[in-house]
Amino acid sequence: MIVSPSILSCDFGNIERDTKMLHSSEADWLHIDVMDGVFVPNISFGFPILKNVDQHTDKILDVHLMIVNPDKYIKDFVDSGADIITVHYEACSHLHRTIQLIKSFGVKAGVALNPHTPVTALEEVIQDIDLVLIMSVNPGFGGQKFIPATVSKVKKIKDLIKQKNTSTIIEVDGGVNLETGAQVCQAGADAIVAGSFVFKSEDPSETISNLKKL
Ligand code: DX5
Ligand code: ZN
Repeated sequence: MIVSPSILSCDFGNIERDTKMLHSSEADWLHIDVMDGVFVPNISFGFPILKNVDQHTDKILDVHLMIVNPDKYIKDFVDSGADIITVHYEACSHLHRTIQLIKSFGVKAGVALNPHTPVTALEEVIQDIDLVLIMSVNPGFGGQKFIPATVSKVKKIKDLIKQKNTSTIIEVDGGVNLETGAQVCQAGADAIVAGSFVFKSEDPSETISNLKKL
């Protein structure tokens, strides 16, 4: 299981310390939640934070863009250290073009689906993408409750990936803890994002190790 802790729940006054902790933990990737206050009802952070994180780790930076018009900023995210860039299906009118743009910079391309978006929406692009991000909460905030219907959605996207014979990674984001993490893992997820479960725990590094064991 790939574990991608979200820095959205870290202590921003101590971001260097928290990044170093993630760097020395068993985390595979670092999940970076970018929110614009338009696509989602919240604003998080942008390039300076990403650059800062990039300076303190060489782990994969898994950037989740919850923004409208992502094409405008792809190059800046690549220049700031992104290794994987995931855009929202619901935010892209020309999704195929956006995917090609991301890939043209030599980084991995992902597409995220909101809880209400059926997996069939990706039928025509699944062969072009490296990652599918299944949202298990409505994007915008950390610390929300996992939506149980996500489990069957993971199974459905797994079937589509098998049917199309692609090697797309399935990542699940929102409300992940040891219990919900085990459920999506069993359903076929390859990667899990965890924000508050990691950072609100007593020993974040140990919590990451426990998630790794799923
Ligand atoms: C939600 C973000 C998530 C968030 C997860 O909009 O995309 O990545 O940080 O936080 P938890 O794990 O607390 O639900
Ligand atoms: Zn996210």
